[in-house]
Amino acid sequence: MAAGIDRNSITDAVIASFAGAGDARTREVMAALVRHLHDFAREVDLRPEEWRAAVAFLTDAARITDEARNEFVLASDVLGFTSLTDLLRSAPGATPRSVLGPFHAEGAPERAPGAVLAPGRAGQRVRVHGRVLDVAGSPVPGAVIDFWQADAEGRYWQQDPTQTPEDFRFRMRAGEDGAYAFETVRPAPYTVPYDGPVGRLLRALGRHAWRPAHFHFRVEAPGFAPLTTEVFPEDDPYLAQDAVFGVREALVARLEPVAGTPALELAFDFRLARAE
Ligand code: BEZ
Ligand code: FE
Repeated sequence: MAAGIDRNSITDAVIASFAGAGDARTREVMAALVRHLHDFAREVDLRPEEWRAAVAFLTDAARITDEARNEFVLASDVLGFTSLTDLLRSAPGATPRSVLGPFHAEGAPERAPGAVLAPGRAGQRVRVHGRVLDVAGSPVPGAVIDFWQADAEGRYWQQDPTQTPEDFRFRMRAGEDGAYAFETVRPAPYTVPYDGPVGRLLRALGRHAWRPAHFHFRVEAPGFAPLTTEVFPEDDPYLAQDAVFGVREALVARLEPVAGTPALELAFDFRLARAE
């Protein structure tokens, strides 16, 4: 290590210590991270007690994190970092990506197009339909849609013992013309968990924990980049203030009345980018 390190030269000294990294991308990413972290500390003239508070935040996040809950991902979500990584990878002409969230689980039941979800459960019925297309608007054959949502009370099956894991999620193979359709209930807005360090941070920043109501989709097809995204009904009060910054204009959809029924209809086409 170089002698005579001062508040400025320390940054280059740390970056120089990465010279032996076997992987060029690791070196590039870590060098940029150190440069920005050091610039940040210099910019705010970071105090030791503030550094200790940051370490305490991370320690508390580690304590509350387990298989079912990851406070580090939640911190990334509420700071817009998860959404930024999605925005950086959203391809031109393709449906924008949005957060996965903690409630996706493998093993959803297989359903055929036209499936009616949870017919006995409370909530306004919504008929969702559309097609899976490429960026030129041609149907994508062989697309599989993974779907999950909160119910009319804003709760996922993992949070609500009255739901079964089959009620509000499925895997569906779209038709060869890319068409998919299902009927469900209108989901409600809900709060992200705020009983841990991320909740304390939100309160300190004068923020709430609400997400606008949404449907989650993960769409996969051979030869195309997998798409994880969300669709948001347009009349939600939290649309402009999502706690995790997941809303994109192209993901907001209108709920239209279905003539002669109490049901609503939501039409949404997915546009997939080719795999890189
Ligand atoms: C969700 O949409 O399920 C979600 C996303 C980020 C944090 C918490 C929940
Ligand atoms: Fe969600």
